[in-house]
Amino acid sequence: MSLNKRNERRLYLRFALILAAVCGLLLTEACGVRSDMQDQPRYDAYEKSDFFSDGRSSRDYPEGTVARGHLEDNKAFFTGKIDNPDPNAQAATSTDANGNTVVASFPNAITEFPLPVTKELIDRGEDRYKIYCMVCHGQFGDGDGMVVRRGFPQPPTYHDDRLRNAPVGHFFDVITNGWGKMNPYGYQVQAADRWAIVAYIRTLQLSRNPDSNLKMTSTANSNTGAPVPAKPEIPAANAATNRGGTR
Ligand code: HEC
Repeated sequence: MSLNKRNERRLYLRFALILAAVCGLLLTEACGVRSDMQDQPRYDAYEKSDFFSDGRSSRDYPEGTVARGHLEDNKAFFTGKIDNPDPNAQAATSTDANGNTVVASFPNAITEFPLPVTKELIDRGEDRYKIYCMVCHGQFGDGDGMVVRRGFPQPPTYHDDRLRNAPVGHFFDVITNGWGKMNPYGYQVQAADRWAIVAYIRTLQLSRNPDSNLKMTSTANSNTGAPVPAKPEIPAANAATNRGGTR
């Protein structure tokens, strides 16, 4: 066979292969064999499945699964409570003349900040306080915010002995879970920001009583050698961009 002939045959072979491939593609297209992305072999939420013996397609997470970044194992930082709080030690509440819920002892609340108290933390707290709390509690914590002046139930002032002596963990708990007529803010103010707000409230209290025994001590200051909590940092991006948003 001459060289030319061989080249010619190779060319034919190649052409035939390409043709076959194109035909194949067209055929599968026409028959709908191709699987579109919007048409995937998957289960919808809660759909029944014959594959698993319990008939459920949705499977349980393996035991001990924690969403990434949500371990929240630092109890003091995420709850404001001491380790192993005693449910029986919870102090009884009473109601004052304004209809507010009053408690005077705080057996399970932590007394020191679980993150380092810095000027940045207090500044961030002021910023958040003005967004979330000032409307009711007033600019300086006297309980005379604009919403209250328009008729909302009046909160107690932060500047009486009871709340001045209340441990930081109590404030954190009130913000997180709400208190009496006040709504919880835990779902929209992240833990580090709640501590920042507590630091700002303490600052307001100190500003009226500079000679009092109030201290802004922290179990996480570098000089104490105590471990710094999992997420003490205040996200700078939020501070810059998200004013009045959900975080
Ligand atoms: C819509 C109004 C409103 C907003 C906003 C609000 N609070 Fe309150 N807060 C109240 C009222 C009313 C009470 C009294 C509730 C009661 O005792 O029934 C209260 C009570 C408190 C108390 C006192 C708890 C005690 O032991 O007596 C603290 C501390 C507090 N709030 C902190 C905050 C912080 C911090 C924020 C912002 C994150 C905030 N509140 C936002 C209305 C509000």
